[in-house]
Amino acid sequence: MAQDWTHPKYPDYILSTRKEWFNVIAVNDALDSDMVYWGTRLPVDVLRKMLDNSLTFGVYHTGPDGARQQVGLARLVTDEVSFAYLTDFYVLHQGKGLGTWVLQVMDEMLSTWPHLRRLMFITDPKHGKPFYETRLPRCHELDLVSRGYTMMEKLYEGAPKVFL
Ligand SMILES: CC(C)(COP(=O)(O)OP(=O)(O)OC[C@H]1O[C@@H](n2cnc3c(N)ncnc32)[C@H](O)[C@@H]1OP(=O)(O)O)[C@@H](O)C(=O)NCCC(=O)NCCS
Repeated sequence: MAQDWTHPKYPDYILSTRKEWFNVIAVNDALDSDMVYWGTRLPVDVLRKMLDNSLTFGVYHTGPDGARQQVGLARLVTDEVSFAYLTDFYVLHQGKGLGTWVLQVMDEMLSTWPHLRRLMFITDPKHGKPFYETRLPRCHELDLVSRGYTMMEKLYEGAPKVFL
C-alpha cells in the first residue's frame, strides 16, 4: 500500500511511494541532466515500466496555487524481502535537508523488513561516501575482498556512460 510523509519542517514537501503521482516528464528531464551523471532520458513507456517495477520515493513540492511538482526521486530495485538496490536518487531543491529526509524515511521502512540482507548502492568517494556515512546509520564502504569475496558485473547496453 502506498505511503505518504510530510516534511516535519517544510510541510509543502511530501514524500510518497504512490505510482499515480509520477511526473514522467519531470523525472525524464532529471535523468537527462548533468546532475544525474549516471542516467539518461528514456522512452516514456520504458521509464513508466521502470518506475512501476521499483519501490519509489517521489519528492513533491506543493506550490501556493496547490499545484504539485515532482522535485526528487529515490528508486529501490528490490524484491521487498531480501535485497534492495538504491539508484536514481536526486533532489532538485538541494541543501534544505530533503535528501537526508528521504534517506531517513527509506531507512526506517527498510528496518521493518525482517529478512532484508542488505541495501546496496554505488556512489562517489569524495561527496557521496561522506554524505551517506553521516546520514545512513551503520552504512559503510563495501570491502568484500578482505572477507574473501569479490563482486562481479557485466555491463549491458543501458550501462551508465561513466562506466564505459
Ligand atoms: C545528493 C542529494 C540527493 C542530496 O540532497 P539534498 O537535499 O541536497 O541533501 P541535504 O540537504 O539533506 O544535505 C546536503 C548535503 O548533500 C551534500 N551534497 C551535495 N551534492 C552532493 C552530491 N552530488 N552527492 C552527494 N552529496 C552531495 C552536500 O555536501 C551537503 O552536505 P553537508 O550538509 O555535509 O554540507 C542532492 O545533492 C542531489 O540530488 N545531487 C545530485 C544527484 C546525486 O549526486 N545523487 C546521489 C548519487 S549517489
